[in-house]
Order: sequence, then C-alpha cells, then structure tokens
Amino acid sequence: MTDAVNGASILPLDLAGVSFAAGGRRLIKDVTCTFEAGPRTAVIGPNGAGKSLLLRLCHGLIAPAAGRVVWRGARGRDPAPFQAMVFQRPVMLRRSVTANVDAALALRGVPRPERRARTAEVLERTGLARFAHQPARVLSFGEQQKLALARAWALRPQVLFLDEPTASLDPAATHAVEEIIDAIRGAGTRILMTTHDLGQARRMADEIVFLHRGRMLEKAPAADFFAGPRNDLAQAFVRGELLWWRKRPSRDPATEP
Ligand SMILES: Nc1ncnc2c1ncn2[C@@H]1O[C@H](COP(=O)(O)OP(=O)(O)OP(=O)(O)O)[C@@H](O)[C@H]1O
Ligand SMILES: [Mg+2]
Repeated sequence: MTDAVNGASILPLDLAGVSFAAGGRRLIKDVTCTFEAGPRTAVIGPNGAGKSLLLRLCHGLIAPAAGRVVWRGARGRDPAPFQAMVFQRPVMLRRSVTANVDAALALRGVPRPERRARTAEVLERTGLARFAHQPARVLSFGEQQKLALARAWALRPQVLFLDEPTASLDPAATHAVEEIIDAIRGAGTRILMTTHDLGQARRMADEIVFLHRGRMLEKAPAADFFAGPRNDLAQAFVRGELLWWRKRPSRDPATEP
C-alpha cells in the first residue's frame, strides 16, 4: 500500500516537560524527548511504568498536566488525521470484519468507493479476506489483533501507535502480527510501539525508550541499548530482574514518587 504520507510529515514529535497525573498520583513525570521521522521506536518498562499513558499523551487522547506535546512538522495542520493507534485491548464493533474497517474509514470522511477498495486491500494484506463477512467478535484473539491492525492501516497514517500489539499471542500469531507491522512500516508509516517482550523490541525497534515509574530513564538506538543500557534500572530490566524489589535510593530522582 502506498501514500501513507498524505503530504508533508507531521514529525518530528517533541515532548517538552510532559507530566500527567490522575487519582492524586503523578503517573508521567517530566518527559522531554524528540521522536524523529524514520526509526521504529519501542517503549519498554515494567507493568505500570506508564507506557500506555505515554502513547496516549503522544496521540493526543489525554492532555498533559504540564508540558507540551508538539508535532513540529504539522505547521498549523491538525495532526490527528495523520495518526492512528491500536490499543492494548482493541474493541471490535458488533459488525462484520469488513464493516469494522469501513466504519473507521467513514469516521475519517473517506468516500464510499475508496473505502471499499482500501478495506479489500487491507483485509487481503493481513490475511483476513476469508473472514470479511464474519462478525468481528467471533474472530480469535489473534485474528482480532490483525483486524485492529488492518483497521489502523486502512487509514494510511503517517504515524501508528501500537500498544502491546502481541500481548497474549502465541509465537505463530506474534510472528504474523510482526510481519504485518513490518509491511505497514514498509509502506511508509512511522511505528511507535510499546512491548513487554524484549525479543520483540530487539526484532522490531531501531530505538528504545525505557520507562520506569513514569520517568523516561533512557532513550537510545536499539543496538546501543541492547549492548548495554546506561541506566542501572534499565540494565536490571534487560537482565530480567524484577524491579519492584529494589530498594529506592533516596538520591535517585528516577525512583522518587
Ligand atoms: N486514568 C487513570 N487514573 C488513575 N491511574 C491511572 C490511570 N491510567 C493509568 N493509571 C495508572 O498509571 C500507571 C501507568 O499505567 P499504564 O497503563 O500507562 O502502564 P503500562 O506501563 O502501560 O503498564 P502495562 O505494562 O501493565 O500495560 C499505572 O499505575 C496505572 O494504574
Ligand atoms: Mg500498557
């Protein structure tokens, strides 16, 4: 599929001093970084680190309590139509597989003949064509995950946020989903994903962001990160050590509440 671009890129994405709080807790703490066009990014970190929240902040689904999220390439354009997101637990409409893709395109104002063409194309490319007329909710979990990707791909986003795209999938389904993500990327879409799976981060990312308790403790090229993270908590995470038992050193701002 071509023309994921729809004009000039909205990237780079700048986060400047971004914080988010809810329920009286600071959940994302003073994140400053730039996501450039090009590399695939994996956000990693333990459960509850704030990975999903960070993606939601980037995608504009929640507003920061402090700081700014700026699509520097947007230059006055609304960045929303250039992005899509696949959620950690995608929700399917109680309609057919085809209608699920069609509805997403209709929401974006894509005319009907074009919707038909794009829907057929993404179902073919994700291996779902044979399910086109089945109710989406009878699909297996792995098939629903592919449908969620197809739905997002049909929008031809410049930037695609993927929140744990293969959580609870078996190795075969994980492989299939990773192939779809590669194809989306090959068509020109910038991938920003979260994952628990370090193997997946090695396979799928050019750049790693390590989050811990709402702080971005490291952002590095994947090769450098996996050769040896600079941050000691990131090192422990890569070694597979659980982080929750670690005594909090009082001088380490990364672990302060
Ligand atoms: N709306 C909210 N109100 C209160 N707390 C929230 C809210 N959303 C998220 N949290 C809390 O923020 C923290 C970070 O949540 P988030 O879902 O981003 O973590 P995560 O890194 O994606 O974890 P996981 O690996 O389990 O998906 C968690 O402790 C969660 O309970
Ligand atoms: Mg999450």
